[in-house]
Order: sequence, then structure tokens, then C-alpha cells
Amino acid sequence: MRVGLIGFGVVGQGFAALISQKTEQLQARHGLKIEIAAVATRSRGTLYSTNKLDPKTLLQVIQSGTLDNHPDQAGLERGISPLRLASEADFDVLIEASPSNLQDGQPSIAICEAALKTGKHIVLANKGALIYGYNTLSQAARANGKRMLFEASVMAGTPSLRLGMQALAGCTISESRGIVNGTTNFILTQMGDGLNYADALAEAQRLGYAETDPTADVEGWDAAGKAVILGAALFGKQFAFDQMQVTGISQLTAQDIVDAAAAGERWKLIARVTPDTASVQPMRLPISHPLANVSGATNAITYTTDLMGDITLVGAGAGGIQTGFGILSDLIEIHRESGI
Ligand code: HSE
Repeated sequence: MRVGLIGFGVVGQGFAALISQKTEQLQARHGLKIEIAAVATRSRGTLYSTNKLDPKTLLQVIQSGTLDNHPDQAGLERGISPLRLASEADFDVLIEASPSNLQDGQPSIAICEAALKTGKHIVLANKGALIYGYNTLSQAARANGKRMLFEASVMAGTPSLRLGMQALAGCTISESRGIVNGTTNFILTQMGDGLNYADALAEAQRLGYAETDPTADVEGWDAAGKAVILGAALFGKQFAFDQMQVTGISQLTAQDIVDAAAAGERWKLIARVTPDTASVQPMRLPISHPLANVSGATNAITYTTDLMGDITLVGAGAGGIQTGFGILSDLIEIHRESGI
């Protein structure tokens, strides 16, 4: 399976590290051999090989600040734009792991559309492309007989979408609610332990949980984006940000956290999606509430179903390896279906 990787930040590098660690296991247990054919970044160079790129070399070279320092090798081409790569390069699956553009989803939507139209599957960690392009891209995928998978976009590699869309198929889900942003949950947990907001945010950035611009995390827009993706995936609804009530955690003070604790409660940023509404807001939950005890960058989602009652999934919500695993799980699904 040849893959083209758009974006080589925390997620792209996490994915490269993961497939490098798991090469033998993937081949032995799943018969899956993943080769990186291309890596494209916005400002740190772009590489394409008609042979393959070695993940360990890529990870070393990016430490220098640019992929331009990659050694020459047979079949290597440099500087091809992501859009040209998507439409002209030879690979099977385009992986979109570039920073999410929460304004309009571009250029990722155009890149993904070009890949689908030229016969490639797409796997997205990128939320912007899904928030604004879900319908366009899923129609293009259907029209071209290719898959669009996006497990990594909600709760990293914790299989929240696979649970809701596949494992619970046959149930009717009436609501999903949960903690779907790792950065804010990490900050709230650290503030509960006495750290101040700025230090907790800096630590979340250092650990690779926060978006490139962490405003999206702390103001609730990253969680809102995930609510939009859940709305599309679970209910076939395309919610728009301007129809949603969205409040983040930046207004919460150390005193708010102390007051909640004194009352036996904890603040959590909760995203709620039903077939009719999607919203994000901080809520004070009693510490006996299951979501109150989900701490750090861990996320949780509860699906309310007709046949099974409530089903809750708890797991990592951010991080390079964890999100890289979400991508890998989609590649394994494509491999199982198509034999690539
Ligand atoms: N910034 C996101 C978070 C990364 O903190 O949850 C995972 O989507």
C-alpha cells in the first residue's frame, strides 16, 4: 500500500514512527506493507519517490527543519505541490494530516477531491476538510468507488467513529455527548491540581496535544468541529459553526475550579450532538459522574442508543502516536476490503 502523506507535524511524524515500529507486525499479522511514496508540508519541503521514502530517514531529516535536506536517492523528486501530488503521483491512499483550517477547510478539500477523482482512497486526520467538505468528499468517494475514512479526526485513534458508525450499526443513536478535546481536558485537570492556565496550556502544547493555533482548542472550536463531524457521520447532518452554541474554557478562572471542587464538582468541556442540534460548553459535573473522572488528555464519548442504552468509550484524545494509530486503523480497514 503506497501512501502519500500531506502534513508532517505531530500527527504525520507520529504515523511515520508507528509504521516504522510496526513494519514486521503489520506484515506478519495483517499482510499489510505500507510504503510512504510522498510527504508534503506547507513550508518545510515536499518529497515524492517513485520508489519509497524511509520513515526513519524522514523523521531524522525533519529535525533539521526542512525535508529539503533529505539525501538524494533514485526516483526522488522534490517540490511538487500537494495538489499535483494528489492528482498526478502514483500512490493508493492520500493521508490528510496537515493542520486543520477551521475557516473553510481549504486547501485540504481540494487536495482530497483531486485524490479521489484520480482513483485514490483518502484517510483524514484533518478536521477542517470534514467540517466543510464532508458531503462533497463523501459524494466524490462514492462516485469514484473509493473510501473516505477519518477515524483519527475524533478522539485520535480511540475508535469513536468506528463504534458509532460500524459496531452500533442497527441501533438508533439519539445523542452523543462527551469530552472530545484533549488540550482543554488536560488544562482543566492541571488547573484542578493547582497549575495556572498559561502553564497548563504551554505543557499541552509541548506534549503535542494542542492545535498549531491553540485558540481553536481553548475557545471550543476544535470540539465544535468534532461535533460537526459526529453530526455528519452519525446523523447525516451538516451542522454549521454559526448555528451552534459554542463556549470554550478560556473564561474559566482558578477560582471557578476551586469553587466547583468545594461543591464536589468538576468543570468539563462537553460536546453534545443530536439529529437536531450540536453544541459545546463547559459544564460542572458532580465527581460521581463518569465524565467527571476522565482526566488529562483522555477523552470520552457516550452514545445513547435505543437497543443498548448508553455506551461510553474512554481513551486517548490527542497525541502523535495515538492519532497516527487512528490513521493506521483506517489503512488496515482499506487493506482488508481491497487487498491493497
Ligand atoms: N488539539 C486536539 C485536541 C488534537 O486537543 O484534542 C486532537 O484532535
